[in-house]
Amino acid sequence: MSTPSLASGPEGPDALRPLLGTVLDALGAGGRARGGPLPAGGPDAVAARLRDAVGDVLPKDGDPDALRTLVHALAEGSADPAHPLCAAHLHCPPLAVATAADLAASALNPSLDSWDQAPAASELEALVTRALARETGAADALVTTGGTESNQLALLLAREAHGAGLRLVHGANAHHSLARAAWLLGLPDPVVVPAPAGTLDPAALDRVLTGSGDHRALLVAATAGTTDAGLIDPLPEIAALCAAHGARLHIDAAYGGGLLFSDRHRGRLAGLDQADTVTLDLHKLGWQPVAAGLLTVRRPQDLTALRQQADYLNADDDTEAGLPDLLGRSLRTTRRPDVLKIAVTLKTLGRTGLGRLVDQVCDHAREFAALVHAHPGFELHAPPTISTVLFRPVHATDDTVAAVRRKLLTDGRAVLGRALIDGRLWLKATLLNPHTRPGDLAALLTLVEELVEGHPPR
Ligand SMILES: Cc1ncc(COP(=O)(O)O)c(C=O)c1O
Repeated sequence: MSTPSLASGPEGPDALRPLLGTVLDALGAGGRARGGPLPAGGPDAVAARLRDAVGDVLPKDGDPDALRTLVHALAEGSADPAHPLCAAHLHCPPLAVATAADLAASALNPSLDSWDQAPAASELEALVTRALARETGAADALVTTGGTESNQLALLLAREAHGAGLRLVHGANAHHSLARAAWLLGLPDPVVVPAPAGTLDPAALDRVLTGSGDHRALLVAATAGTTDAGLIDPLPEIAALCAAHGARLHIDAAYGGGLLFSDRHRGRLAGLDQADTVTLDLHKLGWQPVAAGLLTVRRPQDLTALRQQADYLNADDDTEAGLPDLLGRSLRTTRRPDVLKIAVTLKTLGRTGLGRLVDQVCDHAREFAALVHAHPGFELHAPPTISTVLFRPVHATDDTVAAVRRKLLTDGRAVLGRALIDGRLWLKATLLNPHTRPGDLAALLTLVEELVEGHPPR
């Protein structure tokens, strides 16, 4: 076998072109072989098919057909977020243009830990992070791998600003990554504020903040777009309480942050500009391939906590001579230029184009909720706030709801999520596909209805 071609360099594009043809053909054929939103048969059958297709993962002699074989096997065995009946999670169908940009990022392979590995990518990252920070009223932003890393960084920056005694206060509705970050950073156990209607209760928060008379530094974490229901905490009230009590405020807008692009929905994020830090995540309501997280930071001096010096990457004399110091922009060292796909998306679609996508998925959620509401066999949890709809068959037990969801998964016919709210199990449709049509939503409800009829109430 001759020495394999490289993706960059003068020969790179010509070497990639036929391989891209192979990839695209295999994606198409694999998707057709699957035939639905999820491969049928459940975990054992899917795993067996994959093992059969892949064979020896490290053969003695290479297999020139491996690209086609593996891409086909992965496509056949994937959950396809672009299928209208794939609606369980905050798992968006990536835009073609963002995915194409990601290919360029892989081919060029800049690494954002030093300027000499990423001369243009580092400037693009600076431009895009500052622009997105401005959207939330912040001064700067860091690129992360997603909501979890952003939340961790928010806690780390707060701890460095206020000391190791810092205590996290979050709603019962907060994402698990916040409490996990407190554990990871060795912070005291968080105070959990009730969220009786799915959003953090400001009166209960006030009592917590008033009662913490021991002068301990507090970090309040609010949520703009809860994972289970897509609800938005009362941000202005929470921000006012934090200001009155001298508490720091982090807002996890991993889901809801995308509303910033929509003229129609942006107003729901009032109060976001009061936060010390904000988690954004464009691989949710932003149509990016994973990973595309951000953490916006109101006070740039908070970022000095991340300063790091490593002679091979940012020697003092190099920095003094004008080479940008990138190491303090992340806890990671080698780092992908995830900013390229984000930049291409922002510029290709503009605020109007992105806002339209946001409006479309929010409209779909309202349409689906209306179908559920009008159907005598189903109960709607609440009108949707963003693009999540919780519903359940009337008279069904929680076991039936769970079994119906698993049956849809096993048959590969639909991917719905689940949410336990006030002790009852709900089916969750997270609508992130702007191409979904009304007929798809009706088909989803009919599928569930047929299955429930096969599971008489107990
Ligand atoms: C509100 C919220 N925050 C954070 C996260 C974590 O994001 P990621 O999975 O990108 O780490 C999620 C994931 O769904 C989320 O819903």
